[in-house]
Amino acid sequence: MSVVYLNGEFLPRDKAVVSVMDRGFLFGDGVYEVIPVYSRRPFRAAEHLRRLRGSFDGIRLDVPYTSEQWLALVERIIEQAGTDDQSVLIQVTRGPMAVRNHAFPKTITPTVFIMSEPLHTPPAEQREHGIAAIAAADFRWLRCDLKVTSLLANCLMRQMAIDAGCMETLLFRDGYLSEGAASNIFMVKDGVLLAPPKNHLMLTGITYDVVLELAAAHGLPHEVRDILDEEVRAADELWMTSSTKEVLPIVTLDDKPIGKGTPGPVFQRMYGWYQDFKRTVMRVG
Ligand code: PDD
Repeated sequence: MSVVYLNGEFLPRDKAVVSVMDRGFLFGDGVYEVIPVYSRRPFRAAEHLRRLRGSFDGIRLDVPYTSEQWLALVERIIEQAGTDDQSVLIQVTRGPMAVRNHAFPKTITPTVFIMSEPLHTPPAEQREHGIAAIAAADFRWLRCDLKVTSLLANCLMRQMAIDAGCMETLLFRDGYLSEGAASNIFMVKDGVLLAPPKNHLMLTGITYDVVLELAAAHGLPHEVRDILDEEVRAADELWMTSSTKEVLPIVTLDDKPIGKGTPGPVFQRMYGWYQDFKRTVMRVG
């Protein structure tokens, strides 16, 4: 049984308990981060912790832990986990309240939880054949840049994909691509990699940044701009990215092939760069 951190204590996961009056449970009032860990080294920890700080500020939650303290806790969890490659979750809620009330309590004691699970990157078969996706209207709120625990809309939209025998749902707002239910989305057209711009309508993925950095480092033409629904459907290639899925090719959208309906040549290059980067940077630190 893996060890988790809960409110100052390290304990077995089945012994970690939070109050039913926790605002995370009753209102989904909290934020989280998922940090991938390769060979027991947290990847881009500083960036994940900066995004966590932005989420705290966005929901007006003051948590008196410095980045050094977060990192020390994350490292203790990593040490005690059973595998070298891990996915570390940090989740912080506005804590328990005495009576159920939407307004914040005058004084709060945040609930701070950290756990590690084995990191399962996608199987070779998904990478070699690509995955299927559907499209849907993005019905989330207007602060999708915050990594909040109120994930019901994302869960419903991911489940729509599963129910359709697919893996991801691409979200469109007012005719423009925002992101996936739990990933960022890239497209390739005529050799140019395109990504939607960072704004309040999508989460800026740490993997999204890595993919754009790799494109720049290897001289792959790329552009960050608003992308129309019809451009996505006419793309030569479509990819999804996230800390746990890395970069995955999407080969059908709403049952119609994207490009040739197989993982494209630009994906093959990016995948190679990503794996090299993992070997030479992520695992080495
Ligand atoms: N989610 N957009 C959304 C809505 C996401 O949930 C995620 C990742 C991303 C990609 O972010 P990153 O590259 O930093 O992982 C984009 C994580 C993995 C999760 O909720 O488990």
